[in-house]
Amino acid sequence: MTQITEDMIYSCFAAANQGASPDETAVSFVDVEEYENQVMYPEFARWARQAGYPKLATLFLKVAGEEKLHAVWLRKLYSAMGTPARGEDTQRAINALTTIRENCDQLIGMNPDGVVEKALRVAMRVEEREYAEIYPHFRDQAQQAGNPDEAAIYQKVIDSERQHYGWFRDALQEYFPAATATATA
Ligand SMILES: [Fe+2]
Ligand SMILES: [Fe+2]
Repeated sequence: MTQITEDMIYSCFAAANQGASPDETAVSFVDVEEYENQVMYPEFARWARQAGYPKLATLFLKVAGEEKLHAVWLRKLYSAMGTPARGEDTQRAINALTTIRENCDQLIGMNPDGVVEKALRVAMRVEEREYAEIYPHFRDQAQQAGNPDEAAIYQKVIDSERQHYGWFRDALQEYFPAATATATA
């Protein structure tokens, strides 16, 4: 059986992409947030539950719910959006997640802590990249283009993603204290 690495799980992360127009960028954003809401975090929650960490499963589902909110916030500015097109990056992430799912189920049986710890670390990487890089870039662009309402929504998302990062960091420290020497930020 293939060992599942943190990088393999990280490849299940989809990033919102810059579009040619603010509308296209917003569509990508909504697509990614809905993917996290419907696919990625529910899957992490399933792993945590199966590995015997019901409270962690609840945390993953709580974050999943907030990712849905992020999509709802931006949709308000672009009400004509409809169903966002599935981005290439998101499709790639879905495929990656499907590929590791079966191996993951076996691994959870053998090494439940290892899988859950990796999922937490990946969640931290995802959230950190969103609050520190991806959404600040969109916020600054919206600001420069004279769209303060749009910039304010991106800022709200940034604050929320930073909070998600903190929750996952705290959970890592609580459940895997020996592992946190390399994970402080
Ligand atoms: Fe989000
Ligand atoms: Fe988040």
